[in-house]
Amino acid sequence: QTEVLDSKNLRIKLVLLGDSGVGKSCIVLRFVRGQFDPSSKVTVGASFLSQTITLKDSTSVKFEIWDTAGQERYASLAPLYYRGAAAAVVVYDITNPETFLKAQFWVKELQKHGNPDIVMALVGNKADLEYQREVTREEAQTYADSNGMFYIETSAKTSDNVNQLFEQCTEGDI
Ligand code: GTP
Ligand code: MG
Repeated sequence: QTEVLDSKNLRIKLVLLGDSGVGKSCIVLRFVRGQFDPSSKVTVGASFLSQTITLKDSTSVKFEIWDTAGQERYASLAPLYYRGAAAAVVVYDITNPETFLKAQFWVKELQKHGNPDIVMALVGNKADLEYQREVTREEAQTYADSNGMFYIETSAKTSDNVNQLFEQCTEGDI
């Protein structure tokens, strides 16, 4: 849950879910360290990172981020990380329709078993690969709208919209 430490300090537990290879770890690395690793290794189990940002109204937000492993063999571990999360970031790769289907699987699982107040984001990553796009913005936006999520496209490679993604995750709480 989001913890309001005092009027100017929040703590948000955030989980990233999505198929292997969609760029979850790269998004987190971009947000936390401002870097991109083109030879990022698959995540084993999950990894934890934290980052504190200051919003325009000077609220400080500490994100406690669980970056889960997308490979099928780790799927059963996911509830350990999304239970109690205030925000869930469900990522797919705009060049790979199968990953969009996998994102829909995670949304359904969160609707069934997640915190009912959870803020959900649908993220189309690898937006820099526009020329290889296979999932349209329209279909993703429509899906997000009908599932009470916000939708954003990011590129961990160019950093496009990465900070905005995390900032928008706080909007349910402020
Ligand atoms: P798992 O840990 O197995 O669940 O995968 P993951 O979702 O964490 O994927 P990861 O972040 O490791 O990214 C996989 C590969 O996708 C990276 O090595 C990058 O080469 C590539 N990648 C990630 N983000 C982007 C992006 O925004 N644009 C492009 N072009 N490639 C990206
Ligand atoms: Mg990873």
